[in-house]
Amino acid sequence: MQDTLVIEGGLPLRGRVRISGAKNAGLVLMAASIMADGETILDNVPRICDTEVMVDILNEMGASAHWREDGSLSIHPPQDGMKHWTPLELSKKLRASNLFLGALLGRQGQAVVSLPGGCDIGSRPMDLHVKGVRALGAEIEIDNGCIHAQAVETHGARIYLDFPSVGATENLIMMAAKTPGLSIIENAAKEPEIVDLANFLNSMGAKVRGAGTDVVKIEGVSRLKAGRYSIIPDRIEAGTYMIGAAISGGEVLVENVIPTHLHPIMEETDQGILVKAGRTVLHADIKTLPYPGFPTDMQSPMLALLSIAQGTSVIVENVFENRFQMVEELNRMGARIRLEGQTAIVEGVPALYGATVRATDLRAGAALVLAALAARGETVIENAIHIFRGYEDIIGKLTGLGARIK
Ligand code: EPZ
Repeated sequence: MQDTLVIEGGLPLRGRVRISGAKNAGLVLMAASIMADGETILDNVPRICDTEVMVDILNEMGASAHWREDGSLSIHPPQDGMKHWTPLELSKKLRASNLFLGALLGRQGQAVVSLPGGCDIGSRPMDLHVKGVRALGAEIEIDNGCIHAQAVETHGARIYLDFPSVGATENLIMMAAKTPGLSIIENAAKEPEIVDLANFLNSMGAKVRGAGTDVVKIEGVSRLKAGRYSIIPDRIEAGTYMIGAAISGGEVLVENVIPTHLHPIMEETDQGILVKAGRTVLHADIKTLPYPGFPTDMQSPMLALLSIAQGTSVIVENVFENRFQMVEELNRMGARIRLEGQTAIVEGVPALYGATVRATDLRAGAALVLAALAARGETVIENAIHIFRGYEDIIGKLTGLGARIK
């Protein structure tokens, strides 16, 4: 089964690993590229299942997308005649296809995107997206699982997000970038990927101010010119390899990071981060929060590390309502984790043991890889396709650090 990982545990990771471009910046910039008036070239987009699906979606919609010799990604939307709907089958594979809502409304005032099915980590509704695009003048109909949006009298608007949703903030910035007038998004998400989107749009001639703070102001412009742009490194991938060093008792130099993006998970960092495992792992209490709080995407990897910590740790998941599915799998490896609602109580154990486990979502899969590196014996991770969605060349990178993985 090509989507099964087999990992022999007990080997410390040693060496250096180069972090790839950020999945969650690449996906939104690929959507935003359809608003440009020519060929956009994106550098540093990771080649992972999610970006490959996004390439297929773009081609299906009529914007030709392809990887170039130098590894960069070319996206060239047609002058006109681009479809205003995302292909249903493909967009079911990728929640991030909902980012075409704002990009299509910004480009051609019409969009049909599928409401994401309840995914593994929670219901993930789009009520904040809908409220925002309505405020900007789109008429919305929900019809057989799709959002049908038609821009009628679009105009700038002041929008308050009840929750600092990353996707809603991104959709609204993209739509507002081409909507006449001044728009203000309050309680906006502040993730670095939002800042990357704003920098990208501004490099195309947009007027987006305040990204990275909770108030983003956008002055609509009539056209966005195509150009070349390099996306930021993936802070979650970096955090995952940092935990890899700690959990396996190794020493890893993690290269190509932006230190400030890692402050939520590291006290002190400098260019390139050398992580040396301590003699023991100490317990910790963690709450996930929107940026700059501890990232929800690092919750599962951290849970794996804390399962072998000395003492008891408490992790509270405040962002998604169902993001503890890997707990049962970790317990099958000898962890002692108890769930009480959105809180996981982790009683550290001296060791984990190899087992056959199953990945339920991307970051849960990453947590199982980390646990397998530390475990005694061999671990088989089924449904590993989830892991390939978000970690470029994870087998090559871990093998390069001395892991025995296939
Ligand atoms: C983005 O998802 C990321 N995905 C996720 O990364 C990440 O976990 C998440 O932000 C939080 O940081 C991409 O960028 C492609 P949200 P998104 O809208 O935009 C609720 C990974 O592992 N909500 O900030 O879908 C929602 O239900 C992925 O790389 C509403 O209630 O996240 C959730 O509980 C997983 N109504 C919370 O907000 C809405 O209209 C956060 O969701 C929208 C969201």
